[in-house]
Amino acid sequence: MASFSHLLFLSLLFHAALIIKCDDEEDNLLQGINQYRAGLNLTSLTKSDRAECLASEVADQFKNQPCTNTTGANTVPGTEPRIPNFPNLLTKCHLNVTTTRDGQILPACVPNLDPTLVLSNFTKSLYSGYLNDTKFSGVGIESEDNWIVVVLTTSTPEGNYSPGTNDNNDDDNGAGGLSPIGAAVLLLVGLFMLM
Ligand SMILES: *[C@@H]1O[C@H](CO)[C@@H](O)[C@H](O)[C@H]1NC(C)=O
Ligand SMILES: *[C@@H]1O[C@H](CO)[C@@H](O)[C@H](O)[C@H]1NC(C)=O
Ligand SMILES: *[C@@H]1O[C@H](CO)[C@@H](O)[C@H](O)[C@H]1NC(C)=O
Ligand SMILES: *[C@@H]1O[C@H](CO)[C@@H](O)[C@H](O)[C@H]1NC(C)=O
Ligand SMILES: *[C@@H]1O[C@H](CO)[C@@H](O)[C@H](O)[C@H]1NC(C)=O
Repeated sequence: MASFSHLLFLSLLFHAALIIKCDDEEDNLLQGINQYRAGLNLTSLTKSDRAECLASEVADQFKNQPCTNTTGANTVPGTEPRIPNFPNLLTKCHLNVTTTRDGQILPACVPNLDPTLVLSNFTKSLYSGYLNDTKFSGVGIESEDNWIVVVLTTSTPEGNYSPGTNDNNDDDNGAGGLSPIGAAVLLLVGLFMLM
């Protein structure tokens, strides 16, 4: 019995660690982007749940594509791949085109999401032209495999990512998975089982 609890605890710990690590990539990038903006005397971007939801859905669409010199931040302007099922992705996040059209979706592909390369893919590529734009005020970041997606939102009605009509189901942001709080709860449960 003791060893079973132990095993369970270790497995919970492992999952919690994985989940927390997973969030690190996004937080690192957000920090890097905000430092970049601070260097230009621009306001920090604040987190937007709906932008994060869309980033998660878009990352999910890209995750099986390999990184090449024509994907992500290396894309030649005007030849950006269309995001498959885009209208469906908006619907999943309770968004519509009216409130998202001035936003910007920036997917990048970096093997193993190397933090330095991830940041430079945004701040030292054509994407920097969006990150240094005063019109953006909010951001959502999610990653899947080698892909990390940044969604920028504005503070105007055309890009603030406010929820679409006839859908007030606020609690389902479609992002799925456990939050760090969920991971902490799992950890606590594991600790109790040890005692
Ligand atoms: C940022 O603002 C400071 C103080 O207002 C100024 O000295 C500095 O030159 C500005 N930097 C840029 C990049 O605009
Ligand atoms: C991408 O890589 C291929 C093969 O490695 C090369 O032939 C091509 O010139 C590269 N394209 C760009 C835009 O760098
Ligand atoms: C972006 O990431 C790729 C790896 O997928 C790397 O080869 C490239 O140098 C990076 N670009 C910039 C501008 O950092
Ligand atoms: C923003 O970045 C783009 C591309 O790097 C550059 O052409 C532009 O001058 C920059 N604008 C500002 C306000 O820094
Ligand atoms: C999208 O949602 C906004 C805000 O709720 C609403 O005003 C607008 O009519 C909707 N547009 C479409 C095309 O559904």
